[in-house]
Amino acid sequence: MSTRRSTPLRVAVLASGRGSNLQAVIDAIETGQVHAKIAAVISNKNDALALERARKHGIPDLFVNPKPFSGRPDGREAYDRALLETLTKYDVELVLLAGYMKIVTPILVKAYANRMMNIHPSLLPSFPGLDAQKKAIEWGCKLAGCTVHFVTEGVDEGPIILQAAVPILDGDTPETLADRILQEEHKIYPRAVQLFAEGRLRVEGRRVIVSGGDMPAAGAIISPV
Ligand code: GRF
Repeated sequence: MSTRRSTPLRVAVLASGRGSNLQAVIDAIETGQVHAKIAAVISNKNDALALERARKHGIPDLFVNPKPFSGRPDGREAYDRALLETLTKYDVELVLLAGYMKIVTPILVKAYANRMMNIHPSLLPSFPGLDAQKKAIEWGCKLAGCTVHFVTEGVDEGPIILQAAVPILDGDTPETLADRILQEEHKIYPRAVQLFAEGRLRVEGRRVIVSGGDMPAAGAIISPV
């Protein structure tokens, strides 16, 4: 059953790099497909293109410098405490990791349990971690894809919200496959945010139940070549 919110869902995006998924969410909000507002974009990299994209759209862009925290035994947790303060200050309801190249600690994971999503360029649970597209080719997989999941303490391990599959073609390189997958990422991430905004996601153990509407139960999308 979808829930109509009167105010847009307040979202923060954590990104370390080019921010194309951030852009997809911004575009989906601006075209009215997603009922949300990006309250802040936060990066651990001062020169992240994601911050520039945020600025262009009048979204607060925040660089949280990891340097002062490194070298401390509790540095990663202290960094996440600083992030948590910022998220609280901006009244953030949902956190999106979008190419955020830092492992989040239980400090953030617990505070945003079932309210923090990540996008990963593989059909999880295959190929968590780095170089997912390259590994899918090397394994001789015929299908690859992307996954939006809730974030838990294990890397790329949380309950799966949506997946999209693409074929792997004979001539594919990690780059050509990554491009094909990325096009699907840009569709399913905004869609997952909208499902969350509509209150249609329920976590039951490892499973995410998507209620109402015309979604296939598993949220699967398979794109033709
Ligand atoms: C994407 O491939 C995403 O799946 C992975 O990191 C990449 C980020 O790309 N987690 P972008 O910064 O959103 O363009």
